[in-house]
Amino acid sequence: MTKEQMKKNSAVSSYWDARFSEAGYAYGEEPNVFLRASCEGMAPGDALSLCEGEGRNAVYLARLGFRVTAVDFSPVGLQKTKALAARHGVEVNYLLADMADFDLGCARWDLVVSIFAQPPSAIRQRLYRQLEQSLRPNGALILETKADVDATSEDRYPGLAILREEIAPLSLSFGEEKEHQLNEGPYHSGLQRTVQIVAYKRT
Ligand SMILES: C[S@@+](CC[C@H](N)C(=O)[O-])C[C@H]1O[C@@H](n2cnc3c(N)ncnc32)[C@H](O)[C@@H]1O
Repeated sequence: MTKEQMKKNSAVSSYWDARFSEAGYAYGEEPNVFLRASCEGMAPGDALSLCEGEGRNAVYLARLGFRVTAVDFSPVGLQKTKALAARHGVEVNYLLADMADFDLGCARWDLVVSIFAQPPSAIRQRLYRQLEQSLRPNGALILETKADVDATSEDRYPGLAILREEIAPLSLSFGEEKEHQLNEGPYHSGLQRTVQIVAYKRT
């Protein structure tokens, strides 16, 4: 990472720290609805949650029996994840790291979760290029992200067609782009266009 990029990313992480320093949980304490529905019946294994934030999704997966690693660059998010995990009596391995140079590893995960992880396209593409090699055979990706119809924000919030290409060669088992009602804490409430994906690494 260049010095310039490090400076920019630390300004962005301060933004998230400020948001997570507010009272309560910005996106609620309950897991993302699409994640909950998609991992129903999945056998627990090793799960990685990208851009985890305050812990709602990681803690949910840990409660299902997954061994969860959560990664984000917000120290305040880390503290709130620890507090939420403690309240539920589960453990989450939390890594404080920037997605710009994060290494997903090799055949390491049974499940990778990317819920409203919306880094700039260069970081996102670098991350998603690693999915195939980081998942174990039959490992899954569960993803939901904002999709903005405004072309000026397409870089940050791409639609289904672009994401589908970025996660290839994973095999898509579900993919949808639609407007629907979010009710996930004070910062995710109201009508929102999102992309939802479940994809697998096939053997
Ligand atoms: C919209 S929030 C979503 C949080 C969480 N996934 C959820 O759904 O509750 C976006 C998260 O991405 C994290 N993030 C953004 N850019 C990042 C980067 N370059 N490296 C690590 N984390 C990043 C922020 O700190 C924040 O927690």
